[in-house]
Amino acid sequence: MFTSKISGLGHYVPENVVTNDDLSKLMDTNDAWIQERTGIKERRHIKKGDGNSTSIMGVKAANIALERAGLTSDDIDFIIFATLSPDMYFPGGGVQVQDLMGMGTVPALDVRNQCSGFVYAISVADQFVKTGMYKHVLVIGSENHSGGLDMTTRGRGVSVIFGDGAGAAVVSRSDSDEGGILSTHLHSEGKHKDELALQGPSTGKWVPEIIAENPQDDIPYYPYMNGQFVFKNAVVRFSEVIMEGLQANGLSVSDIDMLIPHQANLRISQFIQKKFQLSDDRVFNNIQKYGNTTAASIPIALTEAWEAGKIKKGDLVVLAAFGSGFTWGSAIIRW
Ligand code: COA
Repeated sequence: MFTSKISGLGHYVPENVVTNDDLSKLMDTNDAWIQERTGIKERRHIKKGDGNSTSIMGVKAANIALERAGLTSDDIDFIIFATLSPDMYFPGGGVQVQDLMGMGTVPALDVRNQCSGFVYAISVADQFVKTGMYKHVLVIGSENHSGGLDMTTRGRGVSVIFGDGAGAAVVSRSDSDEGGILSTHLHSEGKHKDELALQGPSTGKWVPEIIAENPQDDIPYYPYMNGQFVFKNAVVRFSEVIMEGLQANGLSVSDIDMLIPHQANLRISQFIQKKFQLSDDRVFNNIQKYGNTTAASIPIALTEAWEAGKIKKGDLVVLAAFGSGFTWGSAIIRW
């Protein structure tokens, strides 16, 4: 078995900043409510005509990650693209990125695991690198939420939370047999699939059917979220999967140098931080600036933490995610 490591990181967010006050002009909400319940102050939304899309943002993040890894797109053996908001229903974002980056005929895989998408994608990349099948895997998480949210009071429980952006990591074979990605741990529980979901357009809720129904009453084309149920499950699963990862490596909470939780809600991150008694410098949050960017949230946060010098060689970095499905997972990395 080979050792795998993250050799490059990058992120991109659209320039357009949307504050809580901006949202209060579109729906019955306010800055105090949003900050108190979620910690979010602002988020980025693609602006019509700014040239961005889910795959284009992914490419921008990927180019930075490649440069930092000292690689070009020609060195990449495999593309893994995680999103819940692809540019089109099919084909997926992986091949869109491949085309935009002029990447020959390497395989491209799409991951559909919502907020856990990046951790799932890292896990897939890790297996391919460890077994020696591929040397460099490009992993991207990217989301364009703003194009599909209900920006009226009806949708306020969901729409204030989500933002747009992309993050990328290159997972590479390491020259050293020490450290790197130590292990990944994945779970899902489909019985809760309807608690955070977007029904259509899909083959179960196809466009003609949606149009035929009264769009005022039947809104399967906007995301639905049972917020409190999601919150309660998130705090349990985050804790479990972090502990599972630590125990698998004979480590404990006191070994964590940096926890990068999926940026679902600042209150969820704070709950985990308190439970594990982690000091502020051992948990990284940036949901205040970007909202919940789903598959992009961990790579954006990881990149910013690394850029700020908060992750150093030898540090134990823990990534943990929970989201729609429900799906959840963790990655334990010795930097
Ligand atoms: N602005 C103002 N009021 C709002 C609002 C908004 N944006 N969204 C909902 N409300 C109102 C509700 O209508 C409700 O009003 P009512 O009491 O008159 O019926 C009230 O605020 C409380 O709503 P509730 O849904 O119970 O709030 P909450 O405390 O559960 O907070 C969330 C809502 C969504 C912030 C919270 O449940 C949460 O963060 N859950 C986890 C979500 C998550 O992490 N999702 C991503 C997973 S990857």
